[in-house]
Amino acid sequence: MTNQVDNVTEFRTKLLDWYHKNKRDLPWRGEILPYRIWISEVMLQQTQVATVIPYYLRFLERFPTLEDLAEAPLDDVLKAWEGLGYYARARNLHNAARKIIDKFDGELPETYVDLRELPGFGLYTAASVASIAFGEPVAAVDNNVKRVIARLFAIEQDVKQGQGAVQVQNIAAELVDPEEPGHWTEALIELGALICAPKKPRCGICPLNTLCQARLQGLQLELPFRPPKKRSPHYDVTAAVIRQEDKFLIAQRPLDSMLGGLWEFPGGKCQPDESLPDCLRREIQEELGLDIEVGEPVTAIKHSYTHFKITLHAFYCRIEEGTPQALEVADWRWATLDELDSYAFPRTDLKIIETLRQ
Ligand code: ADE
Repeated sequence: MTNQVDNVTEFRTKLLDWYHKNKRDLPWRGEILPYRIWISEVMLQQTQVATVIPYYLRFLERFPTLEDLAEAPLDDVLKAWEGLGYYARARNLHNAARKIIDKFDGELPETYVDLRELPGFGLYTAASVASIAFGEPVAAVDNNVKRVIARLFAIEQDVKQGQGAVQVQNIAAELVDPEEPGHWTEALIELGALICAPKKPRCGICPLNTLCQARLQGLQLELPFRPPKKRSPHYDVTAAVIRQEDKFLIAQRPLDSMLGGLWEFPGGKCQPDESLPDCLRREIQEELGLDIEVGEPVTAIKHSYTHFKITLHAFYCRIEEGTPQALEVADWRWATLDELDSYAFPRTDLKIIETLRQ
């Protein structure tokens, strides 16, 4: 591969100088324990720093070491993740911790290539942990880095896929500072977060402004190229609130599904032209083998996920026939309102619980 960056040293010196003077004081900055760096990098994917901080601190209080994480039940890990979203991250962390205990003597592997073998270690996570925790000069490319490089090198193609993505990865690999790869990883991300912001880049105070092709060409607001947004579809989803005395019936979502391993008021997505009560009766029969009567509405909750939106319609229901069986759910329980606190629920179901408490 031919070099695409001819003044690499200038990029490195300017950005690292800026980083050492301007970096935010974050709980994982200066951390040397690989386990903690790993947790921070997983939480920071797709999630804002301000949201991550309290989760990070609580998670490490609950699971101070990799052994603690590996030994914990998945339910506890999901509970610590509740509200943070993208729950596959928590399931993968837990699986990876167990694999590290079994196969790597309890120590995180120290190279990018070995890290990639673990659940949840995609290109970004493996490179960020290898560089920050182990000083390996590999390029960690997240969305911040894609935006920064798209602007610095005036890449006009989509940098999230195809040729554009390859070009960013190649440039990022050339830029990595071999002396301070971990600081370099954090510095590029920090520049994206504090200066090279998506909508209002602060070019006037950017340490790389004299090197930035987008700025020189007046393209900083045009780049990175954003493909036209697809409209996200909307689905009606139903949930049954089935109460017997002071206990509610809850079900655990299959581990391999979206929100897998979380608990919910059972139900599911309506089929085209299906009424809400018909949908609920069908879903509860399929998932738990119960015939139910659908009563009054409890609440309706709107929620947006990354690629679609839902309205969750919750109804009070009564069992007409049958006892619960885990047919299409991972598990089920009867739990009092107080006991619900120890299970991890999606945000939507937490709102149903809030309504039930009123
Ligand atoms: N986003 C991803 N990794 C980060 C880090 N180490 N610090 C701040 N934001 C980040």
